[in-house]
Amino acid sequence: MRKKVTIVGAGNVGATTAHWLAAKELADLVLVDIVEGVPQGKALNLLQALHVEKSDVSVRGSNDYDLTAGSDIVVITAGFPRKPGMSRDDLVRANAEIVGEATKQTVKASPDCILIVVTNPLDAMCEVARRVSGLPRERVIGMAGVLDSARFCAFVAMELGVSVDNVQGFVLGGHGDQMVPLPRYCTVAGIPITELLDTATIDRLVERTAKGGGEIVNLLKVGSAYYAPGRAIAEMVDAILKNKHKILPCAVYLQGEYGIRDLFVGVPCQLGAKGLEKVIEIKLTAQEHAALRRSAEAVEALVKALPSEAAVV
Ligand SMILES: NC(=O)c1ccc[n+]([C@@H]2O[C@H](COP(=O)([O-])OP(=O)(O)OC[C@H]3O[C@@H](n4cnc5c(N)ncnc54)[C@H](O)[C@@H]3O)[C@@H](O)[C@H]2O)c1
Repeated sequence: MRKKVTIVGAGNVGATTAHWLAAKELADLVLVDIVEGVPQGKALNLLQALHVEKSDVSVRGSNDYDLTAGSDIVVITAGFPRKPGMSRDDLVRANAEIVGEATKQTVKASPDCILIVVTNPLDAMCEVARRVSGLPRERVIGMAGVLDSARFCAFVAMELGVSVDNVQGFVLGGHGDQMVPLPRYCTVAGIPITELLDTATIDRLVERTAKGGGEIVNLLKVGSAYYAPGRAIAEMVDAILKNKHKILPCAVYLQGEYGIRDLFVGVPCQLGAKGLEKVIEIKLTAQEHAALRRSAEAVEALVKALPSEAAVV
């Protein structure tokens, strides 16, 4: 039997995620949105494309959760995106309510699912999903690190004029302007970028990565990024559904790793069929550790700002 993935929120990120997943023939898909006709229309539109793509998965849309029953993975993208000049943090109250409701309905229909949270502010919305779902930490995972790392690697490839395929790297920390790209661990065909680029250039790319989402928001004027987020989500879904034991940077509920407890923060994680299999702890310099700490403090402040209803399971 094919696996089943539900995507809650059939907006830009949700629909683009469905597009990537369907093209990869990974699972039968259900799109859920509150706007009548939108999930149904986008599902039908995508289903027709799959004839040309020769992908046999089914794609259905709905305004309730009946069709989602028994999903293996549920991706939550429902909520408002940023507007120009708005920080991810401004979204916290409005989106906590939406993510809380989506989580409640999701878990009722699919008690065994793995939740991938995408709605911003990401790390705080993961905490809402964790509290409301009551699921163990292995099954509530936030998507941000794959996207932020892809941005960093794309900028490095552009700067050096090399194939994106040559570049590997990752970003730690919360999904905010205080994320922590790690140039020391970024390599081009195995060569650390510190051997290939000067410090000023690396600092510029790090800064552009940390503000990478905002750069797109300012260009688009309406809405925020969706192609890269959709592809990043598909990478996590692929790792889980195919039980790949793949290491990807994800937001997970830390339990003392990196000296952080009871907070969702982005770290390298091994993903497989059960969701989070292992948090990979790497040695950080004092400076990197301090940057991660600052990033975690920003997440902590956001979690404290969550409306009290979101604390109710
Ligand atoms: N984690 C990341 O790296 C990352 C990347 C990009 C976007 N995002 C976030 O993802 C979210 C979605 O972004 P988008 O560009 O798709 O926005 P969008 O406005 O295009 O889509 C959001 C959709 O959610 C739907 N929605 C609202 N309330 C709902 C509810 N209660 N149940 C079901 N659906 C509901 C809306 O009708 C809309 O279709 C935003 O919060 C954005 O900031 C996160």
